[in-house]
Amino acid sequence: MGRHRQSYPTHGVLVGNTVQTIALCYGTRPQVVKASVLSHALRRRWRVLAVDTGQHYDYELNRLLYEQLEIPPPDHFLEVGSDTPARQTAKVLDRAGDLLARMRPDTVVVIGDTNSTLGCAVAASKLGLPLVHVEAGLRAPEPGLPEEHNRRVVDVLADLLCAPSKAARDTLLNERVPGVTVMTGDVARDALTEHLRRIPPATDRQPFVLATAHRAALTSDRAALAAVLAALGTLELPVVFPMHPRTRAAIDGFGLCDRVPSNVRLGPPLGYTETIAAVRDASAVVTDSGGVQREAYWLGTACVTLRGHTEWTETVEAGANALVRPLEAPEGLRAAVFAQMQRRAAAAWVPDAYGDGRASIHIADAVGHLLEGHAAAAVT
Ligand code: UD1
Repeated sequence: MGRHRQSYPTHGVLVGNTVQTIALCYGTRPQVVKASVLSHALRRRWRVLAVDTGQHYDYELNRLLYEQLEIPPPDHFLEVGSDTPARQTAKVLDRAGDLLARMRPDTVVVIGDTNSTLGCAVAASKLGLPLVHVEAGLRAPEPGLPEEHNRRVVDVLADLLCAPSKAARDTLLNERVPGVTVMTGDVARDALTEHLRRIPPATDRQPFVLATAHRAALTSDRAALAAVLAALGTLELPVVFPMHPRTRAAIDGFGLCDRVPSNVRLGPPLGYTETIAAVRDASAVVTDSGGVQREAYWLGTACVTLRGHTEWTETVEAGANALVRPLEAPEGLRAAVFAQMQRRAAAAWVPDAYGDGRASIHIADAVGHLLEGHAAAAVT
């Protein structure tokens, strides 16, 4: 873990406080998983206030994860729900702002690049609360990507930026963000390490491909979604396709139900443990999810990403991941999946780009330094 820039900005919130409180804010399915491992590491040293914005609220996208991973219920559930991107972000800002103003935590931790991340980060900044961004420094050169707007703004606001990889750390240093940048590794790897060992090996060894797709670029574009469905039909293996609710709605809404190929089995979203077991056991994964790309990289499963870019460039450099744009998938997916499976069989990659599986401990250490810096600033 490398530290860069030693000066911490001053908010003076520690004066008079004895028990320090960290507000850990999250709101979507993958963030619940990451928050659970992070919370574990933070709770050893501080009081943690878990704030779930409720951006995801369906049973399979929220409660199922709390139950499966035995996560205590959040201290606050903000019931933000679905809305236009602007209204959803505004609701997070409004509700998190009120809550944080009442609770006055010593630090606010946000994860990733969702609308919940942005709303909570802006709320913390407006209140002058120290802000920690976990999964900082990721970039994809796609101007229309909602997550790209979110993460760029949060990276500029954060006092402490926890980068999952060396490349992400270098990006932040090159951009000269105002906060302190630390390379901590990726908490998603901690979660995988923690939970995978409890999942027994598969007994049914029938080969299959796992497909996931949920991004706005795919689900708001009929031609792109139709191209991906057609491309999955060219794979000569059964395709298991658990669907995010927005993907199901898009297939229905675009009238694509009768374009689902016969080898593709659509189903409801999987829980976390079923997802990582499916990534482990699949012959290949076809996805637009950043989480699934890394899980395939760590688990040694061939991966094809349905995008023109990925934030997780190390997976492509290692040969673990190949990119195919959705509209090019009918011609390109089959060959790409086959090539990735061949490559996987010929030589495995060493999945060491995103830390050592102890990112949450490194993040807790960095938060400790941040709090000490504030304490020191408050008494001088
Ligand atoms: C969000 C994140 C994305 C992340 C993903 C993880 C943003 C901009 N996007 O995308 O970065 O990868 O979460 O899964 O924050 N819906 C339901 N039930 C739910 C939640 C959503 O039916 O519990 C439907 C609604 O129609 C909603 C749509 O899914 O409008 C999209 O949900 P939203 O939370 O806005 O974005 P995601 O696609 O889930």
